[in-house]
Amino acid sequence: MDRSTKVLVAGHRGLIGSAFVRRLRADGYQNVIVRTHAELDLADEKQVRAFFEVSRPQVVVMAAGKVGGIRENQTHPAEFITSNLRIQLSVFAAAHRVSASKMLFFASSCMYPRDCPQPMAERLLLTGKPEETSLPYAISKLAGVHMCLAFNRQHGSTLFIPVIPNSAFGPNDNFDPASAHVLSALIARFHHAKISGAARVALWGTGRPRREFIHADDIADACLFLLDSELSPDSLPVNIGTGADCSIRELAELVARVVGFTGRIEWDPSRPDGAPQKLLDSSRLRKLGWSGPKITLADGIRSTYEWFLSRKRETISG
Ligand SMILES: NC(=O)c1ccc[n+]([C@@H]2O[C@H](COP(=O)([O-])OP(=O)(O)OC[C@H]3O[C@@H](n4cnc5c(N)ncnc54)[C@H](OP(=O)(O)O)[C@@H]3O)[C@@H](O)[C@H]2O)c1
Repeated sequence: MDRSTKVLVAGHRGLIGSAFVRRLRADGYQNVIVRTHAELDLADEKQVRAFFEVSRPQVVVMAAGKVGGIRENQTHPAEFITSNLRIQLSVFAAAHRVSASKMLFFASSCMYPRDCPQPMAERLLLTGKPEETSLPYAISKLAGVHMCLAFNRQHGSTLFIPVIPNSAFGPNDNFDPASAHVLSALIARFHHAKISGAARVALWGTGRPRREFIHADDIADACLFLLDSELSPDSLPVNIGTGADCSIRELAELVARVVGFTGRIEWDPSRPDGAPQKLLDSSRLRKLGWSGPKITLADGIRSTYEWFLSRKRETISG
């Protein structure tokens, strides 16, 4: 991409969108377009259409959506499916309408069948039913992927690139334990336990499920690589992972060490575990030539915890 390309980053205040904006600005892109949710509701087709007609982005990074952990998915399933479908419908149509050259769409590893052979390759999508706890979210994302493929097949003027990152983390993640994903929820839980001098932290499930985590800066790096690559429609969608997973128990112990929580970690097996393993097969991305992630899990957790602490200091100092 040329440094003067008009790039719209939708969802720029979120975890992945903010990583994208940081990277574009660091690389010297001069025309990065952003709008907050309050300024532009991407689920509102009329507003989105009018905004695209005026701003005419050449590249759209679609990192806006309704996102959350198991609890949030279980308590707000209707919101997950409805919001994501509405945002996708309005943004995809508008990107096509103004003939943006490329659009990147963030799907999710929750789309893979619950009992998918590991690691999960793109061809295994729709070969079985996704995990029940996040099914409405997964269906909205599967619809998004197939909308991308269908737009490419029918129109071809805009290349819609669906990507499937595994569990992301980094600055601007959601740290509210009630709605966060596991890694950021663990940072917040262990931090508060340390500060309050709690002797124990009780966690959901058995700790046995295995997950793959990737820093949002590495996702942005992989996506910029894809935007700069010659992609054929049949090389889509593209998984984005590190290639290594760990158990939730190992993750919890690592986060506790980084945060400095020295109390006991207790597991509650009566709570749901979610899918037993979610490791992506990222060989398609590697074959396209991406050099791989640069941030290790331990370093990423350390820098994310530092960001979490600095944000807390900011909030306290006003
Ligand atoms: N986080 C992960 O582990 C992960 C993994 C794979 C794929 N993804 C996908 O990647 C995308 C970005 O994820 P993320 O973790 O960066 O999410 P995030 O931190 O929750 O950010 C999502 C952003 O979208 C905005 N948004 C939501 N609804 C909107 C609307 N109707 N109009 C305008 N803006 C809206 C949110 O703004 P408000 O907060 O102001 O509503 C927020 O800034 C999502 O589509 C997600 O499904 C995420």
